[in-house]
Amino acid sequence: MFDPVKFIDESIESIKKQTNGKAIIACSGGVDSSVAAVLAGKALGDNLLAVFVDTGLMRKNEPEEVEAMFRDSGIELRTVDASEEYFQALKGVTDPEKKRKTIGEKFIRIFEREAKDFGAKYLVQGTIAPDWIESGVDGNVKIKSHHNVGGLPEDMDMVLVEPLRNLYKDEVRQVARELGIQSSERQPFPGPGLAVRCLADITPENIRIVREACHIVEDEVMKASEGENMVLPWQYFAVLLPSRSVGVSKSGRSYGMTVVIRAVESTDGMTALHSDVPLQVLNGISKRITDTLGDDVSRVVYDLTDKPPATVEWE
Ligand code: XMP
Repeated sequence: MFDPVKFIDESIESIKKQTNGKAIIACSGGVDSSVAAVLAGKALGDNLLAVFVDTGLMRKNEPEEVEAMFRDSGIELRTVDASEEYFQALKGVTDPEKKRKTIGEKFIRIFEREAKDFGAKYLVQGTIAPDWIESGVDGNVKIKSHHNVGGLPEDMDMVLVEPLRNLYKDEVRQVARELGIQSSERQPFPGPGLAVRCLADITPENIRIVREACHIVEDEVMKASEGENMVLPWQYFAVLLPSRSVGVSKSGRSYGMTVVIRAVESTDGMTALHSDVPLQVLNGISKRITDTLGDDVSRVVYDLTDKPPATVEWE
């Protein structure tokens, strides 16, 4: 049986042993990187710098939330606004693996820059077991390159420290609760951000659309699950497809893109079942999405696929 208290003590010792000097940690605000940051902070004190890269691919209000989370943590946080760099690098990139590699490589180059500036030679990451298992490491079949594993460039000149490498999501959550981390119950969010939820061209405008659609799904599902109507799914979000269809809007004919609502039940992300979100809730989401994004989105559909055969994210 997993013992979070024992794990915390052992991993602080292990981080101390693996490092000799300054380190930086990549923080996204998600539970994995927050747990890794707190453990590394306890092991390294002032020798740790947390870096948050604003890729322009984050959820609504996420940069502000990350900054608020670190404000009282005693860990120094540096925010790097790299959104223009990301949009430039992702121009015309539609292949899912190329997208993940491009994002992963950019992450590392930015961290290398920041590490040099801080004088760090270690990079702490919140990689968890499904990330590397699904990236095809150690003889596993590759499903997708999680940007913090398969996406890392081969010539990276920092030493990786991954304290959560053998943990699954439910175990990370137990550690997070033990450490008093607020984001412990927050739903997972992929490292490459909204880029893997946008199958249309990666442009600021399309990312704005998928960000708003994700926000609406989150908001409506959370509201519905506060009542008797439904329990909160494990993960719930929106995906933007470039497929266009004909619709009717206030100004006449529309020919907008498609939004997919995705909600799944899982414990570790390795397998998942589609959630049975009540039709009434789905219809409320659909109406709000077309009311808010009607010029760009003509149709909203619900994804009923389990994992396997699908994956949770669409890319
Ligand atoms: P998939 O799409 O692989 O997702 O079935 C399983 C779980 O992992 C999340 N996910 C990621 N998490 N880096 C991460 O840290 C990634 O590159 C990544 N890709 C997917 C996904 O949101 C789901 O919870």
